[in-house]
Amino acid sequence: MSMNTKQADSAFIANTYGRFDVVLARGQGATYTDEEGRRYIDMGSGIAVNTFGACDPGWVAAVTAQLNTLGHVSNLYYSAPQAELARMLCERTGMKKVFFGNSGAEANECALKVARKYGSDRSGGTRHVIITLKNSFHGRTIATLAATGQEKFHQHFGPFPEGFRYVEAGDVSALEEALAPGDVCAVLMEMIQGEGGVNVLDKNYVLEAQRLCRAHDALLMVDEVQTGNGRTGKLYAYMYYGIEPDVVTTAKGLAGGLPMGACLMGERAENVLGRGDHGSTFGGNPVCAAGAVHVISRLTDEFLSEVAEKGQAIRQELLQAHGVKAVSGMGLMLGIATEKPAAPVAAGCLRDGLMVLTAKDKVRLLPPLNISFDEIKQGIAILKKNL
Ligand SMILES: Cc1ncc(COP(=O)(O)O)c(C=O)c1O
Repeated sequence: MSMNTKQADSAFIANTYGRFDVVLARGQGATYTDEEGRRYIDMGSGIAVNTFGACDPGWVAAVTAQLNTLGHVSNLYYSAPQAELARMLCERTGMKKVFFGNSGAEANECALKVARKYGSDRSGGTRHVIITLKNSFHGRTIATLAATGQEKFHQHFGPFPEGFRYVEAGDVSALEEALAPGDVCAVLMEMIQGEGGVNVLDKNYVLEAQRLCRAHDALLMVDEVQTGNGRTGKLYAYMYYGIEPDVVTTAKGLAGGLPMGACLMGERAENVLGRGDHGSTFGGNPVCAAGAVHVISRLTDEFLSEVAEKGQAIRQELLQAHGVKAVSGMGLMLGIATEKPAAPVAAGCLRDGLMVLTAKDKVRLLPPLNISFDEIKQGIAILKKNL
């Protein structure tokens, strides 16, 4: 029986995704073409993954060179791209050690394990509570769902591992109160809640969170799965806040289109995990690591300031546009509160040749970081038409 892509998808793929009605066939940079030859400007990057858009020649060369040299090796052996990537990440952040996994959820799973072991090492198991923020998103595994401070994700999948406490973002006294029982080993937060609606955390709140974590000997852990790797105009969004987190997790754009997650550990956390405490078959494999080495090496200060500049240009355009109530976010991670509901705006944009995302009730833009000013202009014109 011959089936087209949409038919085979509906017949054989688990029903977990609501898809836009398009089969993408090829892409170059921020421009894609579907099976019927229609063109689209991409302002979603595969949800913040394709750092340099589709089929970036430098990235493709770095990845294929590695594939042609040595593909997968297990973590029972050393491999140069993984070690090189860890060195680059530590040098650029001041963090001390890195554990590699394959996704954002896995990066966060590692962070949760680091937090629990940190607490257990210091208290013999009585300090195991991890505080996260309401409206956060940390992943789809059972533990990262438990960490996610949104009721709707908890439906149907319980019981969850215990030991998570949720506090209102931005409320210092709520955080103080949640730390008070003395049973907390870590606080985990996104600097910008991506899935939660592109909500930027207040700087003073984050500084206070750091002070409180230090005072209570709890680890400050930052989830940079979506905000990381140049997305906001800094290598990591926490760098805007003047904090030194104990743990930073990242994934999505790290390897520029290949699955990779990383859990970076600072001075207080670097020796928490010991031999045999954690592992991953694919984590840090040479091909993904080579992609990530290429990505990180291109995220220079000059490139990052261009990301910030592009973000500013889009923001200015949109703030003057009809139908826009507010624009949130930083760099090329933007949330647009629209007068019309976000979902039909996104659907209309797609019909007119622009891929955008939504987050809660906002239109969300996460374009490839190397999108051209001309592509921005074309994309924003389509967006404005649909607002
Ligand atoms: C902040 C944050 N953390 C974790 C995740 C989970 O990442 P993954 O889908 O790669 O497991 C996401 C995904 O959207 C995210 O935005």
